[in-house]
Amino acid sequence: MNHSLLSPSQDIWADWLLHRRFADNPPYAERVRFVVQGYIDRVLDHARLAPDAHLLDVGAGEGTLGFRAIERFGSHLHVTMTDISTAMLGYAQAQADEKGLSSQCSFVESSADALSEIADASMDVVTSRSVLAYVPDKRAALRAIHRVLKPGGRISIAEPIFQDEAFDTVILKNRVDAQVSGSNEGLGTDLGLALLHRWKACQFPDTPEKIANSPIANYSERDLMRIAVGEGFTEIHLELHIDVLPSIIQSWEVFIGASPHPWAPSLKTIMEEQFTKEESEYFEAMVRPSIEAGHPVSIDRMAYLSATKP
Ligand SMILES: C[S@@+](CC[C@H](N)C(=O)[O-])C[C@H]1O[C@@H](n2cnc3c(N)ncnc32)[C@H](O)[C@@H]1O
Repeated sequence: MNHSLLSPSQDIWADWLLHRRFADNPPYAERVRFVVQGYIDRVLDHARLAPDAHLLDVGAGEGTLGFRAIERFGSHLHVTMTDISTAMLGYAQAQADEKGLSSQCSFVESSADALSEIADASMDVVTSRSVLAYVPDKRAALRAIHRVLKPGGRISIAEPIFQDEAFDTVILKNRVDAQVSGSNEGLGTDLGLALLHRWKACQFPDTPEKIANSPIANYSERDLMRIAVGEGFTEIHLELHIDVLPSIIQSWEVFIGASPHPWAPSLKTIMEEQFTKEESEYFEAMVRPSIEAGHPVSIDRMAYLSATKP
């Protein structure tokens, strides 16, 4: 993959997909891509793709899922890739040219919650990976996918479940608020705890009200299933995979430089823009040794949903 194809731009999706998610660190980018390939293969495992199928990949980003589908299911597959990011569609198109796959791929700018440019009952399979998480109206997106599928067509998606990160951030806020209000009298105020909260609150909602209004945190895997039922899908299969693993982040620079999702600033940006110099130094002294000792774990929660349009 050519990471230098696009330089940092005003497009938050391209900035994140091609730069900020990897902290612009090529060895780390390779490790992330390996993990993403696992998600994509599980989506394709549930897609029941026939070799001559027409596949629509919603929110295609770099085009990885579509290219992998062609690699796995053959040269007669046709893939339509949609995205709201002009930059990412251009990137995916350039990748298709480079791979000699242009004749099998189409690129359409279209929002997942309507898919207005895609004809009714025109697709055999619709896939999507880490896209509905960012769509406020997930019900509209499932309805649009149902509309464009042929009868008997399949949907197979994977979405991150960020609720626990948000719940943990609410707990941090409550602990800090309790200290500030004196209800933890005797324990004193803990600067480390306050900085942890300020870091996490820049990346995830930290009150129940903010969670309710956050597209990335206001749904669970069961909500996705309920929506699929409500929009008329059948043969619905849902798997929640939770993996607690040693983190693939192996340096402080990547730890502070990588953003967990497109709407989150990196810890580096937070330390530079939200913390004082003294706070940054205190925080780094508190957290860096554990990162460099290789202690961090990552907790990955991914919901896989597949279903059929009757
Ligand atoms: C986290 S990336 C995932 C990219 C790709 N599906 C993958 O698995 O690598 C989210 C993608 O969804 C696109 N996206 C975000 N909101 C969208 C929307 N409302 N409609 C369509 N695409 C959207 C972004 O431009 C980005 O390419």
